[in-house]
Amino acid sequence: MSSGLEVTTLMDQAARLAFRGRGLVEPGCLVGAVVTDAAGNVIAEGRYARFGGPHAERVALMKAGDAARGGTLLVTLEPCNHHGKTPPCTEAVIESGVKRVIHACHDPNDLASGGTEALTDAGIEVLHQPTALTRLLNAPHIHRTRHQLPWIVAKWAQTLDGRIATRTGASKWISSERSRRLVHRERGRVDAVFTGIGTVLADDPMLTARDLRKPRRRAERVVVDDSLQIPLQAKIIQTARDHPTTVLCSEDSLKTPHAEELRSAGVRLVRLPTDGTLTEVIRTLTQERNWSTILVESGGGLMGRLFKERLINEILVFTSPVLLGDQSAPGAVRGFSPEEISEGLQLELCASFQRKPDVVSVLRVRDPAD
Ligand SMILES: NC(=O)c1ccc[n+]([C@@H]2O[C@H](COP(=O)([O-])OP(=O)(O)OC[C@H]3O[C@@H](n4cnc5c(N)ncnc54)[C@H](OP(=O)(O)O)[C@@H]3O)[C@@H](O)[C@H]2O)c1
Repeated sequence: MSSGLEVTTLMDQAARLAFRGRGLVEPGCLVGAVVTDAAGNVIAEGRYARFGGPHAERVALMKAGDAARGGTLLVTLEPCNHHGKTPPCTEAVIESGVKRVIHACHDPNDLASGGTEALTDAGIEVLHQPTALTRLLNAPHIHRTRHQLPWIVAKWAQTLDGRIATRTGASKWISSERSRRLVHRERGRVDAVFTGIGTVLADDPMLTARDLRKPRRRAERVVVDDSLQIPLQAKIIQTARDHPTTVLCSEDSLKTPHAEELRSAGVRLVRLPTDGTLTEVIRTLTQERNWSTILVESGGGLMGRLFKERLINEILVFTSPVLLGDQSAPGAVRGFSPEEISEGLQLELCASFQRKPDVVSVLRVRDPAD
């Protein structure tokens, strides 16, 4: 391995391995590793496969064995230097005999940092080389560590003219069956699925991960419903004994007989602050429930509020080849009134692919702290 281009290719190979751990390793960081021998040939790879399991570089170096001597370890996160659930990876790296380590991200966790110094002290050359893909990979972990907030993904299905329902509120089905399967897969990888009362009243969704061989996580369903309008007959309430369900509502609503009925149905009620802001409620619930990732599947009301509080990090949009041509049909986000295009929220398109006939776009919101 010699050229910078080759390092980028190998680092991206490590990143692609790391992505396979989504929903399995959080609150840990997704990590992948590739080992080359002294001649630059790839001899082993590894990834962090489950929370608390062996780290990616350990897995890769163990596979490589003696062949790693004089070689290079490429890893998407700086090797850790502390005793956590596993011993420090720096020890395994030093023992492996590699002469060089290239990592794509300094460990944002103060407890685990110091890997670069420990390796350098042992005579190993350490380089930092992020790629566009590793920046995407590491952003959720950096965000969680920096802000003590989960990574929040907003998902919606829209027509070609950007509408999420007809003027009567009908939205079944804008997206294709294949797109909806992908949404179920995503629900099976997150810790909570949020929606608003408007969506519950219009669509009566279950918001569970269905038709999957094995969901990786069981998401808590959370409904934002200030005045506690959610009917006892709603599917979410009817299934609350089997799937954890929380409703966020005002303090006054907590004291009503309807609140008692909902509690008896197995629903947890949590108080919303009087100003309706969600940041602190989400932060508190995240600490209590150890959430890492939230998927939001709501209409424009809740989306608008979450965007206003800068809580959305990523957007997953399914655009179907349907035109409604009706200005009374709702859009995906409401509550903003920019006068210039430049005043709109500027997003970064990270990926787009097809789930025929839909086009799926993955976008990121820039962290102002970057
Ligand atoms: N195509 C899709 O992907 C998709 C997905 C979901 C829903 N939908 C469609 O979206 C439509 C529903 O849209 P919607 O905007 O009414 O629904 P929504 O976003 O699900 O819920 C909005 C409701 O929640 C309240 N709310 C949100 N955040 C709050 C907060 N922090 N504190 C207190 N209350 C809060 C809103 O109050 P305010 O009005 O006071 O803001 C409003 O009453 C339906 O037609 C549904 O079919 C489409």
